[in-house]
Amino acid sequence: MRNPIFNTEITRLLNIAHPLLCGGLGPGVSDGAYVAAVVNAGGMGFIVSSGYDNPEDFEAELATCRNRVGDKGFGVNLYISRIAGGVERVLDLLPLLSRYGVTCVETAGASPAEIIPRLKEMGITVLHKIPALRYIATAERVGADAVIVVGQECGGHPGIYMIGSIVQAALAPFETRLPTIAAGGFATGRQLVAALAMGNGAILMGSRMMVAEELWINQKFKEFVVSADGTESVVAKKAFRDNHRILDNDTAKAILQLEAEGVTDFDTYRPHFTGKLTRAHYQSGDPSRGTFDWGHSIAFANRIATVEEIFDEIIDDAVKARDRLAELALPTDGGRA
Ligand SMILES: Cc1cc2nc3c(=O)[nH]c(=O)nc-3n(C[C@H](O)[C@H](O)[C@H](O)COP(=O)(O)O)c2cc1C
Repeated sequence: MRNPIFNTEITRLLNIAHPLLCGGLGPGVSDGAYVAAVVNAGGMGFIVSSGYDNPEDFEAELATCRNRVGDKGFGVNLYISRIAGGVERVLDLLPLLSRYGVTCVETAGASPAEIIPRLKEMGITVLHKIPALRYIATAERVGADAVIVVGQECGGHPGIYMIGSIVQAALAPFETRLPTIAAGGFATGRQLVAALAMGNGAILMGSRMMVAEELWINQKFKEFVVSADGTESVVAKKAFRDNHRILDNDTAKAILQLEAEGVTDFDTYRPHFTGKLTRAHYQSGDPSRGTFDWGHSIAFANRIATVEEIFDEIIDDAVKARDRLAELALPTDGGRA
């Protein structure tokens, strides 16, 4: 692991070496082995709680991660569904989090207001993920410890306002007293330096990590990611005000066709959105069917590598960016003396 080069409010809050967070990847993609690799490389990762057929399978991932990280902290992604029973399903999982010593949680989806008090009682740090700054006051009010702000370029759910990261990452630190984490398109060290310079405490990545050796998805799928240049995504589910940036494949085309026909009954769409279909295609390595969250920063995923190698590359790039800024800087008198 590279030596730490930045000490930020987020590295201190999470007790990690690098201000590098890897967001939850569903369905079941960011599992115990991958999150352990992220933690052991000096960052923070999140096991997705959604995407498992039963709580026992989720528990097995928590156990794997705990065994591999020793006494270090690790995280869980709790996606709170807006449909009935979403909050209750998450509440039922919380005892497992304390059993395996989970230290932080990434919440996403519906408001975590009912969940945060329980997480606080358990001593868990809460990072709430939002797609637009208009939700930042809510994150503060419901008791989040930090806020992750994702811009429209992200893989997954960019929200309905679709504001880019270059604007949101520059505004967020000035809109809240909470530490902020920039996400959506961030994947390099030079972007990390820019995010920190804008006032954020870390970056969070998803798409960039899809080539991590530790991920269980088929090598052929990772090779497809390497060959991609970031132009392959479309935004589906706009009709449901639940924008979803995914790979433009046969499944995406079928969804967009239904939207173009004005179909509003979600049951018609449901067969395209099953986690089972997506998981099967991650397993076989065939990207033609399934809904694959796919952000622009796929462009930076140029080779299959371990999480530690990816982090090393990012930190080396950050050092160069930091040094470039130092070289460009004029003395405070503007160089007139
Ligand atoms: C393959 C994939 C699956 C994802 N699954 C989830 C998920 O289940 N829950 C969630 O909160 N975010 C999910 N995300 C979003 C990421 O956690 C993260 O917010 C996002 O990828 C950051 O933007 P980036 O893709 O530009 O790095 C997913 C992203 C990707 C690429």
